[in-house]
Amino acid sequence: MENEILNLETKARSELDKIIESSELEQLETWRISYLGRKGEISKLMSELVELSADDKRIMGSLANKCKISLERIYSNALELMSLKSSGSNSENTYDVTLPGRLNLIGRKHITTLMIEKIVKIFISMGFSVAEGPEIESDKYNFEMLNIPKYHPARDMWDTLWVTTDQDSDNIPMLLRTHTSPVQVRIMESGNPPIRIISPGKCYRYEATDSTHEWHFFQIEGLAVGKDISFANLKATLNEFIYRIFGNERKVRFRCDYFPFVEPGVDVSIDCFRCNGKDVENCSTCNKTGWIEVMGAGMVHPRVLEGVGYDITKYSGFAFGMGVERIAMLKYGIDDIRLFYSNDIRFLSQFHGML
Ligand code: FA5
Repeated sequence: MENEILNLETKARSELDKIIESSELEQLETWRISYLGRKGEISKLMSELVELSADDKRIMGSLANKCKISLERIYSNALELMSLKSSGSNSENTYDVTLPGRLNLIGRKHITTLMIEKIVKIFISMGFSVAEGPEIESDKYNFEMLNIPKYHPARDMWDTLWVTTDQDSDNIPMLLRTHTSPVQVRIMESGNPPIRIISPGKCYRYEATDSTHEWHFFQIEGLAVGKDISFANLKATLNEFIYRIFGNERKVRFRCDYFPFVEPGVDVSIDCFRCNGKDVENCSTCNKTGWIEVMGAGMVHPRVLEGVGYDITKYSGFAFGMGVERIAMLKYGIDDIRLFYSNDIRFLSQFHGML
């Protein structure tokens, strides 16, 4: 039966070639009926399959099916070609080969991805490695082990999207992480100093969006723990990072700030590159202050170190956390964070090859 199928296909093909040459549409219809019609050769072939054993039926059935599909395809190609010819159009007068082609848009990396890559590269060159943590996080890692106990007013600093609360049956409060700081705890818990990691990742906050706030955004966390790690190491690391992102001429300011998981805590700002401190009164970039905040940082709180079982007489550490979109906004003069995720190709394509 195998030969029968192969011969049928060869015969059908050669007859069709002749019909195409003759350009006779009626002959094409006759061909279709005799091979693909209800009582045509293919139908006959299919009905013969019933008499075969189960194994042969499977093999021959698949062969017959392939033959049917192949004849249907050459029939529809022939029909298209002959119809074009009979309506007086052919490939020579349908297409103007001198017209320029259409450019297909090629997908590229998103500005946030490019910015993360740029920042990660800088820290890797300083000896940090990359660590990741889950986006759906437990209350324990997002808050409690970061020295933010239940009902502590400091929780108000992070408006939280809860996934489950302690009223739920399984009793494990879960949330969409509000910052990348939980990764610090997970890394410390799973290993011993020395530690030098950075952790890029997505964060979520239950807040209204405006030009500088998104409800989902990316942060990069940094953590270094070891013997004799001091505030001077924190300053040197962040100064180096800022010079490499914003240029050597920037001034960097460290000013006291409060985060429950660091002591002392600081906010790190750079002098305003728009007004350069000269026209502060009229500058909207720095909010008339001459300084732009770029991240939060500090020395890891002894309670956090103790919580993961580290000996605080031996080890100390520093940590920092920055918003990726905010760094990109400062570097490239983007005035609205909502542009990042509104998928406007005119905005996104500006950054191809720029970062
Ligand atoms: C924190 O989230 C701390 N975990 C940072 C930290 C880490 C401090 C380690 C000390 C030690 P904060 O809430 O300020 O801090 O957020 C850090 C950065 O995330 C901000 O400077 C800002 O750049 C960015 N960010 C915060 N909220 C938003 C938001 N809604 N939209 C976009 N970026 C945001």
